[in-house]
Amino acid sequence: MRIDVLTLFPEMFGSPLEYSIIKRAREQRLVEIVLSNIRDFATDSYRKVDDKPYGGGPGMVMLCKPMFDCFEHVQAQSTEPGNVILLTPQGQPLTQEKVVELSALPRLILIAGRYEGFDERIRTGLNAEQISIGDYVLSGGELAAMVVIDAVVRLLPGALGDEDSAADDSFSNGLLEYPQYTRPEEFRGMKVPEILLGGDHGKIEKWRNEQRIERTRKWRPELYEKYISNIKNNS
Ligand code: ADE
Repeated sequence: MRIDVLTLFPEMFGSPLEYSIIKRAREQRLVEIVLSNIRDFATDSYRKVDDKPYGGGPGMVMLCKPMFDCFEHVQAQSTEPGNVILLTPQGQPLTQEKVVELSALPRLILIAGRYEGFDERIRTGLNAEQISIGDYVLSGGELAAMVVIDAVVRLLPGALGDEDSAADDSFSNGLLEYPQYTRPEEFRGMKVPEILLGGDHGKIEKWRNEQRIERTRKWRPELYEKYISNIKNNS
């Protein structure tokens, strides 16, 4: 997979891409991440990338021209056109289902905005999908782009050490993860549930599944409702 990121702050991406699973996936060439600075495509002497909004109002709006030029430069670097994604609080909320969908694509082009927003023609002209990482406002799309990259790259085949580990993730089949324990068997009076020590894999699997359902019901009732209605619809 190739992931391009168009941003005014490529330096922000340094360390999150240099650790653990993402680092290994890059080293193994499962993913190539290419950062491009939109400001490099500003043509005036101030290297201007934003301007005041037509109609008045606070803040600045990102200009079309440097963004389109940067985009066209980046897109020409590979024959694969790529899916264009704008990171914005106005987008569809990111879900694990969406992450799975994105991880199957050959190329993503992520656009991180700053200031009050983008000129609307960036979204329409680049035929971009909009994604939000939650109903709160960040100072720019960079952190959101990093969240998308992290969630997508760990799902690429070979990225996780144990091929099964993504299958048990929270949200896989719509439920939260079951509780995990490791040694010692007892810590400050808190014991590991007996069932996990017994070695009966059938019983363990059943217990874990019950735990997933119960935790989802208690902690994320809206996910639980969805899970139950999916079961009803499928039966
Ligand atoms: N840019 C600013 N806030 C954002 C959010 N919540 N999600 C994605 N991009 C953003």
